[in-house]
Amino acid sequence: MAAMQGQWWSLFLAWSAALAQTAPPVPAAKAAAPLPAIQRHGAIAQMMVDGKPFLMLAGELHNSSASSIDYMKPVWPKLEAMHINTVIGTASWELVEPQEGKFDFTLVDDQIHQARARHMRLVLIWFGTWKNANASYTPLWVKKDFRRFPRVQSRDGVAREELTPLGDQSLAADAKAFRALMRHIRAVDPQHTVIMMQVENETGKIGDSRDRSPIAEAAWNGPVPAALMNYLSENKSRLLPELTKVWAANGFKTSGTWPEVFGTDAYADEVFMAWHIARYVGKVAEAGKAELPIPMYANAWLVQNDEQLPGGYPSGGPVSRVHDIWRAAAPQLDLLAPDIYIDDFRGVCASYTRSGNPLFIPESRASVPNLFWAIGRHAALGYSPFGIESLPEDTPLAAAYQTLEGLMPLLAKYQPEGQVVPVVQESAGQKTQSVSIGGYRLNFTFGSSGRAPAPTTPRPAPPELGYALVIHTAPDEFVLVGQGVSMTPAADGPGPTLAGFGTIDEGHYEKGVWIPGRRINGDESNGGTRAILRGPAPGTLKVKLYRYE
Ligand code: DGJ
Repeated sequence: MAAMQGQWWSLFLAWSAALAQTAPPVPAAKAAAPLPAIQRHGAIAQMMVDGKPFLMLAGELHNSSASSIDYMKPVWPKLEAMHINTVIGTASWELVEPQEGKFDFTLVDDQIHQARARHMRLVLIWFGTWKNANASYTPLWVKKDFRRFPRVQSRDGVAREELTPLGDQSLAADAKAFRALMRHIRAVDPQHTVIMMQVENETGKIGDSRDRSPIAEAAWNGPVPAALMNYLSENKSRLLPELTKVWAANGFKTSGTWPEVFGTDAYADEVFMAWHIARYVGKVAEAGKAELPIPMYANAWLVQNDEQLPGGYPSGGPVSRVHDIWRAAAPQLDLLAPDIYIDDFRGVCASYTRSGNPLFIPESRASVPNLFWAIGRHAALGYSPFGIESLPEDTPLAAAYQTLEGLMPLLAKYQPEGQVVPVVQESAGQKTQSVSIGGYRLNFTFGSSGRAPAPTTPRPAPPELGYALVIHTAPDEFVLVGQGVSMTPAADGPGPTLAGFGTIDEGHYEKGVWIPGRRINGDESNGGTRAILRGPAPGTLKVKLYRYE
């Protein structure tokens, strides 16, 4: 026994030495840091970390990256250099519980250790029963035991690898594993490096609008649960229009079987699937929250176009048209999140903020204009391009994240007051945009209008689309942060009819503190008439305006 202990001890020392070579020293643990939470302030929701508002300037790893500590070694410093403050990493059921009841958290521990050592936070995806509408991340002992963990069936009667959401034993096993994971995180992470969990990944039934396995057919022909009927009746005037339409088509019945209440088309099937999947995901989240009640969310594979029916996209996943069902079935979740790969970024953001759902974008393409839109228009809790480690270290996103990191205290203060406004060019054809705020009309011009910053400076290539945030910080004072735009002010509302620049200062924010740079005037402001943000990276200007006649 003593020899065994000796072996373990030397293994532990070797492991510690190996970690010490790959990661900077871990900052000392702070006792009892406040739990991360999503709180409402004024008109918006904020992610609270260490008791303070926190904007997740995030990136999601490729699916398989965090399954190898070695593979991740060069990735961590790269992510740090990219100014990412939150890494969306992974914890998969197959690796966490390779044998039933035997847990291995080595990979989770390494992600926590590496993120914490770099003062980054983690969101962990629980790849459990669902990963892109399939069950590929379930452990082999689950995959092989298809009687205990039954599969979905499509219209053709053929079973798919996906587990049916109606399998009670599947739910119990998944929830048990997730609970063990959260218990472990609670034990090893008192600092709350892990700030949020994604429960499952892109749930839903693909290839058919409904599960037609025997267990699902029995439920389909049985009564709609009273809990759902009561929720719909109590919230009838607040339901989203898509669900109202499905319910109305059959006369707003308040009891009956699923086909009696919702009909028999693909949208009725989707409501059925959404209820059962959301109930399952909610129960998994509940098991995890019993150990560590940090925010948890579910993400969606979106409807790809207006013609696509449920089953073309995963039927029953948390797409916006069934948010009411998800809310009714999974109140344990703090938000529902879109994975935005379609072009209509703004439309998706708008549809995901209905009914007060806080916006968090766990997967997207890396687009700085979209990032600014999500923050400026919707006070997004965070933004996260997928496959972050594949982006070049000098991606434009890195400079944008660095700028936004310094601005975080300002955003936290002025967003709840409605004093942050986005100015984002929608397409190359859009040349101007105006904003009325604080007694001024701020007229923005996108692209290369106005004069070059200085005659001797080579003109940098403008970004594909111009973007900025306007922050109204005091009477007559505005902070402009962005790239590829310039602004001239006009008077707005009662008072003197003309407006001009009192001062224009270049600078940046560090932890919310203004660090001044040049006083901008002359050539760099088109003769004192224009605030110009046309540098090679996002710039910050603090302007003081005045009115006269
Ligand atoms: C969406 C999934 O949620 C991710 O895990 C990943 O598979 C991406 N698609 C790939 O584009």
